[in-house]
This record gives sequence, structure tokens and C-alpha cells, in this order.
Amino acid sequence: MKKKLLSLLLATIMVVGLVTGCGNGGEDVASGGSGASNIDSNVTDSGDGGNSGDVQVGIVLPTKDEPRWLQDQKQFETILGDAGFTNQVLFSQGSSATEKTNVETLISKGIKVLIICAQDGAAASAAVEEARDAGVKVIAYDRLITGTDAVDYYVTFDSFAVGAAQGQYLIDNAPSGSNVPLYLYAGAATDNNAFIFFEGAWSVLQPKIADGTFKIANSSEAEALKDKAELSREEIGTIIGQVTTDWDFNVAKSKAEAHLTAASADVKGDVLVLAPNDGTSRSIADVFATDKDITKYVITGQDSEMASVQYIIDGKQSMTVFKDTRTLAADSVAMAVDILDGKEPATDSSYNNEKIDVPAKQTAIVVVTKDNVKEALIDSGYYEASEFTGLE
Ligand code: BGC
Repeated sequence: MKKKLLSLLLATIMVVGLVTGCGNGGEDVASGGSGASNIDSNVTDSGDGGNSGDVQVGIVLPTKDEPRWLQDQKQFETILGDAGFTNQVLFSQGSSATEKTNVETLISKGIKVLIICAQDGAAASAAVEEARDAGVKVIAYDRLITGTDAVDYYVTFDSFAVGAAQGQYLIDNAPSGSNVPLYLYAGAATDNNAFIFFEGAWSVLQPKIADGTFKIANSSEAEALKDKAELSREEIGTIIGQVTTDWDFNVAKSKAEAHLTAASADVKGDVLVLAPNDGTSRSIADVFATDKDITKYVITGQDSEMASVQYIIDGKQSMTVFKDTRTLAADSVAMAVDILDGKEPATDSSYNNEKIDVPAKQTAIVVVTKDNVKEALIDSGYYEASEFTGLE
């Protein structure tokens, strides 16, 4: 944790140094400020110093309706604002059309760098191609944009490790015996990450499914593929097609209800649930908690959203994966600074987006359970202890 704080500090200092020093390609730097004001329900202006014609870094995030992305917004506003960078954060509210309009708005404000977390990885290609044509460098943030060569860099967590950690947690906390019921849920098929998370989870769960330790409870497609250690993207797509939550709490809830209604007695009792993220985990957990034939459930998540941290403290969600948005935001800002300064940003990996290999910077993840929640999330300064009840 200390290391991460240090790297955040370094990134911030670097940004301040460049802005107050000579770098920045002669741009007119207005104060980023910190006073966020809502322009409308889809748009948050994180402070461009009132000079709407001069925004250096534009940030587009998928939705305000999931706490995950508000965490990222907060980090961007802190880092860019403190550094005096002109910037604006816009939300796409689940719509690729709004996302494209947001990108166009930012291009018209003169951005040099676009940091974008796509609503739909394939659909976003048109928006980033427009940005590229306007001379803007594009950093894909958290979610890869696919099928285009107009993505310059990708800043991401290790998403395969996220899925593998979720799967491994289920294995490590499974009841003993064989044919332990396993319910599978996945993210949105429009999000490349949903495939990577599932691939990671499958890499550890599949041997346990194939040898009869676990029994898939809710996906005939996964059942049909249970002997394949590695799945193609298309095969993962067929499973996701069946068990997707669309990253939507309501979809997750109604799917879980339908699965439990249809489930026979042999897939009730003590069960395991692969839930792809915290929001869907809470919805699914609420459904499993009220089924009288479910005696115990172990359920995964990711994002360390505050509500899920409280669920973990209360024993209603079993684990989450901490993806430190401070690091991700700092990494992408550091990249933006390098770009503005005419330098080649450092990368440590690459991701193929079906068109090109996109140079990437990857960040590690941390598994959080009741046992280490304080150390991982409070002692690291991510949350305040006072934001939770029952924390020991
Ligand atoms: C992100 C997750 C998030 C999910 C839903 C994914 O692309 O990596 O952190 O929970 O989208 O918004």
C-alpha cells in the first residue's frame, strides 16, 4: 500500500512540476480547481477554470449510476485539479450515443488527450477515431476499445487476475464434498473486461467443474463446455449470453430470482456464486439470502464499493477485489502528462484489441475479505473507518 501511495504522490508531483515548470507544450494552463458542478445529469464539469474553450485533458466515464465510476471521478478530480490541469469529466450514462457526443464536446474544447472508459468497447471505436482525426491522443481507461487502431494506450487493472482471484476464493471457501452447486454470473457482453474476468475465473474453476467437485447450477452453455480448459472468445460469449448481468443490478436480481425458482433441490443448500462485481453481487446476494432452501452462499465481487465493504463486514458478501482507482487514475494522468510533454509514456504490457496490439500499463489487484478489510481499505487511506459500522 505504501508503495502505491508513494507512486501516487510521485505522479502528482510530476504533474505539478510539469505544469508549474516549463513543460506542457506551451499550453495555456488554467486552474483545474476542485469545485465540481453539474452541468446536466449526464455531465460533470470537474473545473476548467471557467475557460470552456481550453480543456487539455478530457475524461469520459461510463455511468454515474455505479459507485465504481464515482470513485474514479473523484481520483481524477483530485489529481488533475490539484495539479492545475484543465480538465473535464463527462459521463455517458450507459449510452454510446451520449459517449460520442461527450467526445465531440471535448474535442471542440481543444483537448489534447482523451482518457475514456468505453460504455461499449466496439461502439466506442467511432468516437475515438474522431478524436484521432482531430489530433487527440487516446488512452483507453480500464476497458479496452476494440476493432480500431485509434487507441494509443491502455491503462488497466490485471483483469484476468481479478477473475482468477474470484474463482480461487470460491475454491478455497467451498464446502467439502462433490457436486457443490456453482452459480455463474458475468458482466456485460459489450465490455471486453467481462470476457477477461470470466476467462480468469474459468481458468481455476474449470478443473473443479470437470472433476465433479462443483456442479454448474444455472448455465447449460457452461455445462456443455465443462471439459475445455481454455475457451475461445466465442465460447465465452455463449456463456456470457446466458448468464450476463449487463452490469445492471436489476438484471442481476431478476436472473438470480429466475435461477432459484427453476433450481432443483440438488443445486440448493450450501452454494457458490461467481458474481462479477460488487453491484451485481449485492443484488444476487439479497436474492440468495431470502431463499429458504439456500443454507449458505459464498459470493464474489470486485471494486470495493462502500456498500459492498459494509456487506462484507456484515457477512452478506464474501469477498471483493480492490482495484485501487488512485493508482489507475494517477497512471493515466502520468501518461497524459508525458503525451502533453512530447514524451513516450512508459508501458509494461500490451493488449490485442482485434486490430492492433495496444501498449498497456497494468496494475495489480488485492483480494479483500472480512479479515483484511481494515488493512486494505482503511489503513491505506482509501476509506475512513467512520464510513462503516461494525468494523473491528
Ligand atoms: C470494470 C469493473 C466494473 C464493471 C461495471 C468493468 O469494466 O472493470 O470494475 O465493475 O465494468 O461497471
